[in-house]
Amino acid sequence: AVAREGQQHRDTVQKDFLDTYDNLTLKTMMGMEWVHRYCPQAAFAMKTDSDMFINVYYLVELLLKKNQTSRFFAGLLYENALPVRARPHKWFVSREDYPLDTYPAYCDGTGYVFSSDVASLVYNVSGSVPFIRLEDVYVGLCLQKLDIRPRQLHTRQSFSRDGPPFSVCGYRQVVSRHHIKPQEMRLYWYGLESSLGEECPSR
Ligand SMILES: *[C@@H]1O[C@H](CO)[C@@H](O)[C@H](O)[C@H]1NC(C)=O
Ligand SMILES: *[C@@H]1O[C@H](CO)[C@@H](O)[C@H](O)[C@H]1NC(C)=O
Ligand SMILES: *[C@@H]1O[C@H](CO)[C@@H](O)[C@H](O)[C@H]1NC(C)=O
Repeated sequence: AVAREGQQHRDTVQKDFLDTYDNLTLKTMMGMEWVHRYCPQAAFAMKTDSDMFINVYYLVELLLKKNQTSRFFAGLLYENALPVRARPHKWFVSREDYPLDTYPAYCDGTGYVFSSDVASLVYNVSGSVPFIRLEDVYVGLCLQKLDIRPRQLHTRQSFSRDGPPFSVCGYRQVVSRHHIKPQEMRLYWYGLESSLGEECPSR
């Protein structure tokens, strides 16, 4: 079914491993390799999930304002986060897999954006960074090794997991939201695109 869908839309990238939660790091590195090989001409790339709403208008506005097109990495930033050591937990990591007490700075895997050179650098360095199955932390470990500091795109948090319900003015200044169903995405896009010229009360 995936092969058929890929043939129809020509927008599917596959590699030879099982697509499971524990293999997410492999999937992310596959994306990094793909950007490195086939998309180095892009200024930026973003990694996100299929249940995310991404306000591309606001994302691009903030990226243009930042004007940093190399060694750039931003998203919902975590600093000094602690590994989950108690089993069973979705994010459990053993001391054998990761011995240190805190993670390096990293951005939540629901959505992060980076200049495309970072894909090459991360792909390149990943050969020498020990595997852990949390893809977002893993990318943080690669960035640490590369001496690239992940950051927030804006002083006000614009990437988020959850937040207030949709409103045009509320979502104009949101880059990402989690747990959004396909029908909701259509509605949000319709709301944003049909009101592009309209003013919102300033805050
Ligand atoms: C990851 O993919 C490999 C290759 O397909 C597979 O052998 C392995 O079982 C997968 N690991 C997990 C934890 O799903
Ligand atoms: C963006 O950065 C480039 C190179 O650092 C600089 O030449 C240019 O003036 C900057 N543009 C803006 C709008 O800040
Ligand atoms: C990848 O790493 C190797 C050695 O670590 C280095 O020689 C090479 O220039 C790197 N390539 C890129 C694209 O950074």
